[in-house]
Amino acid sequence: MTRHNSPNAASSAAPVFDSAGKLAAIIIGVTAVVAGVVMGTTNPILRGATSSQGAQIDTLFSLFLGIASAIFVIVQGFLLFSIIRFARAPEDEGDGAPLRGNTKLEIVWTAVPALIVVFLAIYSYRVLADIDRPAAGQMVVEVTGRQYAWEFYYPEYDVKTAELHIPLGRQALLKITSADVNHAFWIPQMRIKKDAMGGKITTANITATEPGVYPIVCAELCGAGHAVMRSQAVVEAEPTFQTWIQSQIGAKQRAAGAPADPKALGRQLYNQYGCNACHKLADAGAVGLVGPALDGIGGRAANVVPGQSAEEYIRTSIVKPTAYLVPNYQPVMPGDYGQRMSEAEITALVQYLLEQK
Ligand code: CUA
Repeated sequence: MTRHNSPNAASSAAPVFDSAGKLAAIIIGVTAVVAGVVMGTTNPILRGATSSQGAQIDTLFSLFLGIASAIFVIVQGFLLFSIIRFARAPEDEGDGAPLRGNTKLEIVWTAVPALIVVFLAIYSYRVLADIDRPAAGQMVVEVTGRQYAWEFYYPEYDVKTAELHIPLGRQALLKITSADVNHAFWIPQMRIKKDAMGGKITTANITATEPGVYPIVCAELCGAGHAVMRSQAVVEAEPTFQTWIQSQIGAKQRAAGAPADPKALGRQLYNQYGCNACHKLADAGAVGLVGPALDGIGGRAANVVPGQSAEEYIRTSIVKPTAYLVPNYQPVMPGDYGQRMSEAEITALVQYLLEQK
């Protein structure tokens, strides 16, 4: 059955939507709305923000969404009402009433949105000013993105780590940059997402409001390892944070002097330089899955490459990760460990891995 709007067909045409079509449209519409609401309310990264800045951003977002939804409902309501109320009667072939604007109405529908936009602009500006304001006792953390890992440096303590730790309730000022291509630093649950660009520093304040471990994601396509460029933000009470930072300082001092326990030092370096993020190793409590597991590496590293000792193989794999690729793994390991680690640290790490039999 075809339908035309030609004058001949008009009087005999069936309604444009038959009742089955109407029903299908309603079912699809309602399903889409329900699915949207379920996805929006159950996705863990969209539930309650875990930083005070994030909470303000959420409030602002909800306000925008609320106003937009209200306007949508009002406009669609009028539209639906008009479609039903002013529908042409079946035999009515006459013209509609001539309408020529309505000055009062036009003033109202220009002035009201203008006021809403001005209000939202002022409110947005206040939120932005508020989340950018430094708080007393602020702690600086320098964040560097590189293909394909995040590095965190605490200038106050002269400590470098592969995992972000922040004390609960104390504001952290993140100074974000990149050592190579563009990345984007993203902690979804804290509602912070900032570009990390070489030669530039972007900043963000975060004041964590809930203890926990939150994923850090790279949100800018930066190469083959983009999807695995992840870390985590650990939010802990101030005393726990102090214990952690002191353990990092202690480890660094041990690394500088003659190490008392080479195994403890190796384990420390393994976690400090982020090996743990990608390489599973029971001795270091590491569960990473991005790269090959290193349990027992000391026992099988000899003659992986013919004629090369286990020590040479491990050392080369650290300073030049692309030299020998293990089948089924992507070449995504940062290539600059030779520059970032001291010679003594590399030696200590190699010795530690050799001990893993
Ligand atoms: Cu770094 Cu994507």
